Amino acid sequence: MTENPIPPKPHATVYGTLRRLMPHVWHYRWRVLVALILLVAAKLANVGVPLVMKQLVDGLDLKLGVLVVPVLLLMSYGALRLSTSLFQELRGVVFARVLARTSREITLRVFSHLHALSLRFHLDRRTGGVARDVERGMTSVSDLLDWTIYTILPTLLEISLVSAILMTRYDWSFTVITLATVFTYVVFTFSVTEWRLRYYRAKNEADTEANARSVDSLLNYETVKYFGNEKHELGRFDVALIQFEEATVKSLKTLAVLNIGQAGIVAIGLTLLLWRAAVGVVAGTMTLGDFVLVNAFLIQLAVPLNYLGMVYREVKQALTNLERMFALLDEPQEVRDAPDAKPLATSGGAVRFEHVSFGYDPQRDILRDVDFSIPSGKTVAVVGTTGAGKSTLARLLYRFYDVNSGRILIDGQDIRAVTQDSLRSAIGIVPQDTVLFNDTIYYNIAYGRPDATRAEVIAAAKAAHIHTFIESLPQGYETGVGERGLKLSGGEKQRVAIARTVLKNPVILVFDEATSALDTRTEKIIQAELAEIARERTTLIIAHRLSTIVDADEIIVLDHGRIVERGTHHALLAHNGRYAALWIMQQQSRASAEGIPVSASEADTALAIP
Ligand SMILES: Nc1ncnc2c1ncn2[C@@H]1O[C@H](COP(=O)(O)OP(=O)(O)OP(=O)(O)O)[C@@H](O)[C@H]1O
Ligand SMILES: [Mg+2]
Repeated sequence: MTENPIPPKPHATVYGTLRRLMPHVWHYRWRVLVALILLVAAKLANVGVPLVMKQLVDGLDLKLGVLVVPVLLLMSYGALRLSTSLFQELRGVVFARVLARTSREITLRVFSHLHALSLRFHLDRRTGGVARDVERGMTSVSDLLDWTIYTILPTLLEISLVSAILMTRYDWSFTVITLATVFTYVVFTFSVTEWRLRYYRAKNEADTEANARSVDSLLNYETVKYFGNEKHELGRFDVALIQFEEATVKSLKTLAVLNIGQAGIVAIGLTLLLWRAAVGVVAGTMTLGDFVLVNAFLIQLAVPLNYLGMVYREVKQALTNLERMFALLDEPQEVRDAPDAKPLATSGGAVRFEHVSFGYDPQRDILRDVDFSIPSGKTVAVVGTTGAGKSTLARLLYRFYDVNSGRILIDGQDIRAVTQDSLRSAIGIVPQDTVLFNDTIYYNIAYGRPDATRAEVIAAAKAAHIHTFIESLPQGYETGVGERGLKLSGGEKQRVAIARTVLKNPVILVFDEATSALDTRTEKIIQAELAEIARERTTLIIAHRLSTIVDADEIIVLDHGRIVERGTHHALLAHNGRYAALWIMQQQSRASAEGIPVSASEADTALAIP
């Protein structure tokens, strides 16, 4: 586990982020337009309410002695009030699909991009952290759209409408006070929010960190127990929680500063306006209705203004969330299809490693000038000390990484020149460590080819000699395998892995210690089956137990990334080198153990001694 591989990029702008969202929204331009029209209607109705109110107040002048109830005005007052919410709600209804769909599309794109990223990225990433970033990004997409399009714009519209009305009806001081209030308010809000944002970012980072740690810790539940390290785990988690707590407290404290400031500015503006209106009424230049109107306008303005502060805050926060999600999208794809990549055309699946050198990082070579071929339909076995680079061969063939020099060819085609999809569908790997999906056994076997029929799935299970075992389970194929398949034994897991590779039915097979977790007897049986499966396929076997590979067409002994010996079993024995020494050692320990299988780990140590 290294540090989070996604550094936050603080340079995302509202414009830049919106531009990335635009193509999705553009798809719904008519809905957006209708929603905007509804919104303008709602705002017009809203501004109309105080105007009608003023007419009402003025109409109820008691000095005339007779009081006529202005029915029409009353009714239009009610209608306007109703329209305000009606239009608001309607635009919500019209826009709902845009929000939900955009958020879905973008999240799906991030998810698909995550799958397109290299193994290197995924070995570095922390599941919990990435999941949290995507989750927060997803809600932020709709937040951002909603607030920018439907809160900031209409608030500006309302402010202009109100200012225009004040300007045409009353003396300039009303407009000046209103605009000055709004201006101070906006400047204050934006600058304080800008300052507060660092606490919000810190809070997010602490949150991601905490999530990553808790997920990592729970994934390693067993290991935690083996070493009785619950306290240690709590401590590690708490370090992240403490950071989160600090950041949250700071964020809330500064929020109070912001709110108090905003309320102060609105209060001052309101008082000044009411004072001007009161003076006007006393001087007889304004009616009581005007007084009510001015008051109502400002209070009405204060509501969206208050929103404006919150919205600026939320928009900025949504932007920081989106930043992180888009940072995932910007993560470059290390292994990608060449622009002119063609599908792999397989005839027999002949594999050729041509002077291949490779290292996971530049300072450390893992494979040096490895050169061998597997003619189509033949089997080549690779043996060697642990860490020699055997599994790395399989990863390179599958193109999880690209070679540093040399090339890998399948039926004469450089694997970098063909599409990854076609390459990978041609190769089946039974990996060294099998991890299963937390679903049923059936699902995990059928995963090899999701469109396979039940009969095919069962045939594959039979080939891997796991059918009888599955049938003996109370729930049979519908038995759940648990998180990462941990409810199955190591050997059962390996056989599920073999079954699903058999089901995939590729031209090229790679068995990376595919039977290492099985007892000798079961291994023998499966070995026969595997030999049958491998017969018409090109096969690469990686093994520690030499007895499993004696029939290979060629055996390659790998040491520190170099091929040190090669040949058939008999040739190598005759050569009397490293392979022969190893063979004798394994035979001896087998004989002395009599029936107790030589475990892979024993073979490990044996192999390490030349
Ligand atoms: N993703 C990685 N990043 C950096 N180094 C790696 C990575 N994966 C493997 N290595 C290193 O590369 C070397 C070869 O690893 P590889 O898995 O190919 O060994 P192996 O021959 O399969 O060993 P074993 O018999 O134990 O399975 C090891 O020393 C390992 O530490
Ligand atoms: Mg390995």
